[in-house]
Amino acid sequence: MKKWFAVIGDPIEHSKSPEMHNTWFEEMNIDATYIPIHVKPEQLEEAVSSLKLLGANGWNVTIPHKETIIPFLDELDELAEKMGAVNTVVRTEQGKLKGYNTDGKGFVHSLEEAIGNQHREKQVLIVGAGGAARGIAFALKQYGYKNISIANRTIGKAEAIINELEIGSAINLLQAEQTLDSFEIIIQATSAGLANGDFQLPFSLEKLQPEAIVADIVYNPLKTYFLNSAEKLGARTVNGLGMFVHQGAIAFEHWLKQYPNTNSMIKRLTERLE
Ligand code: ATR
Repeated sequence: MKKWFAVIGDPIEHSKSPEMHNTWFEEMNIDATYIPIHVKPEQLEEAVSSLKLLGANGWNVTIPHKETIIPFLDELDELAEKMGAVNTVVRTEQGKLKGYNTDGKGFVHSLEEAIGNQHREKQVLIVGAGGAARGIAFALKQYGYKNISIANRTIGKAEAIINELEIGSAINLLQAEQTLDSFEIIIQATSAGLANGDFQLPFSLEKLQPEAIVADIVYNPLKTYFLNSAEKLGARTVNGLGMFVHQGAIAFEHWLKQYPNTNSMIKRLTERLE
């Protein structure tokens, strides 16, 4: 029987997930389809019952439902539980709804696709301590990264993540700026100014090591001000598009037990965004 999947969110019309998953279905000869569904906050419970009733095999969850969907699910995987947020739902063979969070792992897959997996001993700095930073921190730890610092404008939020992670240290943005030369992988995970497309963090990269690897979670624009500045100083950069594609690929694998081709998808979407 044809399988079907969806993404629910509000707004939803700009989501690139339908194009991405439908392209993978086509490339891999999988008899399935993926549709965007606009679900307002007050419609969430009804939407989940309807998806279940109508036999959706799984779906993605985006803003603003990632946290509020949890009470309507039967089970959560470990990372989703730690994050208190779900971006992927799987309908199991027993008909149960299981929630996953593939965002943080998506980031790690993207980073390691770009730089390999031999950098797990390096000193990592995550800038930001919101939901995205939190997911990345837990996923990095799960993949064996040992030295993780978190810098945030509100240091209490960075401390809260570090206490839960049980490794690393929390610093403020000024300390991060002053000790930047001690970090080998730097991840921009704040949402500062996302709404207007590009932004400038109140954070100078002056002390960046030229051999550092600098990543951003933002993919529109592909080259953020942060990445541009890092590149000018000689660093190797990883943009946020890989994280988006890999979070989708991990969801795809939960649903269909196969990992789709992320490289060609990144190329395809890069052309669109450049
Ligand atoms: P998300 O779920 O996308 O991570 P969030 O939970 O709202 O979004 O977190 C936003 C992050 O961006 C936080 O780390 C926030 O810093 P604070 O915790 O101090 O608020 C950071 N951020 C947003 N705007 C910022 C700005 N102008 N300067 C520095 N940090 C900023």
